[in-house]
Amino acid sequence: MKDFAVFVSGSGTNLQAIIDKVKSGYIKANLNLVISDNPNAYALKRAENAGIETAVFDFKDFDSKRNFENAILNKLEERNIDFIVLAGFMRVLSPDFVKQYSNKILNIHPALLPSFKGVHGIKDAYEYGVKITGPTVHFVTEDVDSGPIIIQKAIEVRENDTLESLEEKIHKVEHQIFPEAIKLFTEGRLSVEGQKIIIS
Ligand code: GRF
Repeated sequence: MKDFAVFVSGSGTNLQAIIDKVKSGYIKANLNLVISDNPNAYALKRAENAGIETAVFDFKDFDSKRNFENAILNKLEERNIDFIVLAGFMRVLSPDFVKQYSNKILNIHPALLPSFKGVHGIKDAYEYGVKITGPTVHFVTEDVDSGPIIIQKAIEVRENDTLESLEEKIHKVEHQIFPEAIKLFTEGRLSVEGQKIIIS
């Protein structure tokens, strides 16, 4: 079985969904490490409660992005991590980092890429007035929010939706499709052909 790490910065509801699906055997891989750049992330508590090793790399403790990332890479190597899941990790990984885990970093974005990239995907889509939105799971490449798409799921935006009700709907779907994408990846069912992913 493959060993993986989840990177977090915040509340970690996606991490929780992944922990639950590893525990139930739906995802057949070992979640061995949770890495946070935020020492106060609630996600760290979730990991501790599940008995998963945690490591905090606070950006302000490092004098450069390179040193920050090297410290993380050393930890990943030490724990023989095969692939990485970004679950609400709020930092952009450098091209050098991404190259070391090419097509082995999965990310979830709360909008239908390539629309509404960036940190406010749900709000930007809501304020734009789209009728359909939804989360995207994709591989991470050097360009932010642009890698090959693994799964997307559309959600209708109703006239009576508020930003909060839409956020709630999107998170619910995230918690389904992120574990599903990780499962497909761990089963070796994803082949990347340029920008496209073929699921076998
Ligand atoms: C999710 O909405 C995800 O799409 C985005 O960050 C949020 C993380 O939420 N990348 P949580 O920490 O998993 O609750």
